[in-house]
Amino acid sequence: MKVINLGATHSVVNAYMAQLRDVELQKNRTLFRNNLKRIGHAMAYELSRTLAYSDKEVRTPLGVKVVPTYDDRVVVGTVLRAGLAFHEGFLDIFDGADSAFVSAYRDEGSREELQIYIDYLATPKLDGCTFLLVDPMLATGGSMELAYKAFVRAGVPARLHICSVIASREGIERLQRVFPSDEVTLWVAGVDDELNEAAYIVPGLGDAGDLCFGPKLSGVF
Ligand code: PRP
Ligand code: URA
Repeated sequence: MKVINLGATHSVVNAYMAQLRDVELQKNRTLFRNNLKRIGHAMAYELSRTLAYSDKEVRTPLGVKVVPTYDDRVVVGTVLRAGLAFHEGFLDIFDGADSAFVSAYRDEGSREELQIYIDYLATPKLDGCTFLLVDPMLATGGSMELAYKAFVRAGVPARLHICSVIASREGIERLQRVFPSDEVTLWVAGVDDELNEAAYIVPGLGDAGDLCFGPKLSGVF
């Protein structure tokens, strides 16, 4: 798996990341979701350079212009619920893309007891598509791995791009083992070294789902 860290070079992405991580600014949920969306825009733009392009003739009011446009059938798949704002950023850029959704929630406890449940899947056929699997937090990597395994029940994509905002080193190493091929790309905007006892990324940004949408009850089911 190839890893591309947009945070490793200076760009406006770092300014969005600084706002996302800031405990005071996090009180503004609209700003938090908007920053996830803006990082989705930037990542989607960078990723768009890797697609397959062919020339198309476009008729303007005054003539015809040949413009290279991409031929990939893009599907954006996201992990509910923290992935929603990030997902929207990708859809803004890939406006013809289909969407796929999977639910995954971590039943919180100690790292040893951490359980991840998948109980909802809504996806188009994925055979031959360019699949963008987007989830802002890559902590243990368990949600991303299980989400991918759920999605491929709907077919095997031709290309896989895994898109995250903050990844832990442990999460990256896990995905490297799951996806050893360089054909798979992991895009991130920041890499943090540690996971704490509850498997949160440190320094990270906290609980992305709660910061987008408010706290959730655990143990309801
Ligand atoms: C977050 C995030 C990922 C997962 C990452 O979701 O959106 O799906 O944690 O952790 P992992 O790499 O250790 O699996 P969370 O379970 O907090 O659910 P939420 O989006 O409903 O808040
Ligand atoms: N999920 C989050 O929202 N944050 C983390 O740090 C880890 C998992």
